Amino acid sequence: MAPVTSVKEALRSEAPVAALEVRGWVRTRRDAKDFSFLELNDGSSLRNLQIIAKDSLTNYGEIQRLTTGASIRARGPLVASQGKGQSWELIADEIEIVGASDDTYPLQKKGHTPEFLREISHLRPRSNLFGCVFRVRSRLAFAIHQFFQDRGFVYVHTPIITGSDCEGAGELFRVTTIDPQKPPHLPNDGGIDYAQDFFARRTYLTVSGQLEAEAFACALSKVYTFGPTFRAENSNTSRHANEFWMIEPEVAFCDLNGDMDLAEEMVKYLVRDIREKCPDELELFAKFVDKELTARLEFVLERPFQRITYEEAIALLQKSGRKFDFPVEYGLNLQSEHERWLTEEHFKCPLTVFNYPKEIKPFYMRLNDDGRTVTAMDLLVPGIGEIIGGSQREERLDVLEENLRRHKMDRADYKWYLDLRRYGSVPHAGFGLGFERMLMFVTGVANIRDVIPFARTPGSAEF
Ligand code: 4AD
Ligand code: MG
Repeated sequence: MAPVTSVKEALRSEAPVAALEVRGWVRTRRDAKDFSFLELNDGSSLRNLQIIAKDSLTNYGEIQRLTTGASIRARGPLVASQGKGQSWELIADEIEIVGASDDTYPLQKKGHTPEFLREISHLRPRSNLFGCVFRVRSRLAFAIHQFFQDRGFVYVHTPIITGSDCEGAGELFRVTTIDPQKPPHLPNDGGIDYAQDFFARRTYLTVSGQLEAEAFACALSKVYTFGPTFRAENSNTSRHANEFWMIEPEVAFCDLNGDMDLAEEMVKYLVRDIREKCPDELELFAKFVDKELTARLEFVLERPFQRITYEEAIALLQKSGRKFDFPVEYGLNLQSEHERWLTEEHFKCPLTVFNYPKEIKPFYMRLNDDGRTVTAMDLLVPGIGEIIGGSQREERLDVLEENLRRHKMDRADYKWYLDLRRYGSVPHAGFGLGFERMLMFVTGVANIRDVIPFARTPGSAEF
């Protein structure tokens, strides 16, 4: 029996091999006088393995009818290639046709637009571009674990179904088993009685694992979460999805500066790892997706990120002489156009903005001594804007209780969270990295829909 090898392994071979088996999907077939060339791809690498099928094969007639997309097994010796562009090829002794395809197969050799490919999300991983995107996605996830595990962080699985709205933005997907036809009512029609729902309370899909991660940081010191999060925000942009993955480290005995340092170290680590581990993929992105990619990634590694306060950011924007669609004024949120001007045009490098007015940030952020700003930080990068949002957390019980009041939140829902400030409270800080936004940054892919296997966006949940 010939050993089974991936295309990637076969192409890396150091010497000819007497017999091996490869499996995959036919990318193209070209016929010569008494043989055919098949380009085989199995997703293990961007490259294809060339297979020579001679007319002496018993099923040569069928092989000559193979079309793009068909699946095969091929066995035979791996030999040095005579042709240009590859070092090895397989001379087939046997080709088994596993699944035929036909000319309705939508992925043809000519390039397709990302918009078209989105409509065939189930087939697009078979294209060069999306094969590269999803191999990098896998590597990036692994690198994230490696970064935190190497530094002694404990991975915590925070719940996906939760009773709290961490960000307080009300962008929650409700989780319920109540029959919409006959919901249990409170007396005197006081609305639906959620005490009779499955969990005996209102529950939602989580928007962030932060609050639960804080509980674990206040026990295991350094933790991180890495899981799916859900937001029912009706933002139809190239950077928002309703289901996305977030990485949330949380560190006890850490302040805002330590938090910003960790974020910078992590982003640089991830860029370095992908450059080292996915060179073929990055070459394709630099050629076909984003001509600036190589220079931008190089630049990110070379220099320290800039850091400015929100107040300084507002002053710079006001002095810019630029006309923005949204107003620039102390106390208003920075919009994407403002963030991008700062990072792309003014600083031309990643930038952390910190100390935002308390009114525009969630309840859990630590109040600064000035009484009007909180220790929030957002990391902005060229091409995307915000990829990280974080803060030092309010560790003082009385201040946190006051924050809850100010944000009109129900203290009863946060009893356990307040306990963390009651028993051995410590300064602590953390942040959330949007996994897909980081992936957009390292690949240059401009739309979040093209870095998610099956994207969930407003009005769209096919597949
Ligand atoms: O800034 P956000 O909302 O922060 C939090 O959720 C905090 N609880 C994190 C923490 O401190 N532990 O979200 C964090 C990041 C954003 O910077 C962005 O990269 C990403 O999550 N993000 C989204 N990514 C894709 N689609 C969306 N709709 C996103 N919303 C946020
Ligand atoms: Mg944010």
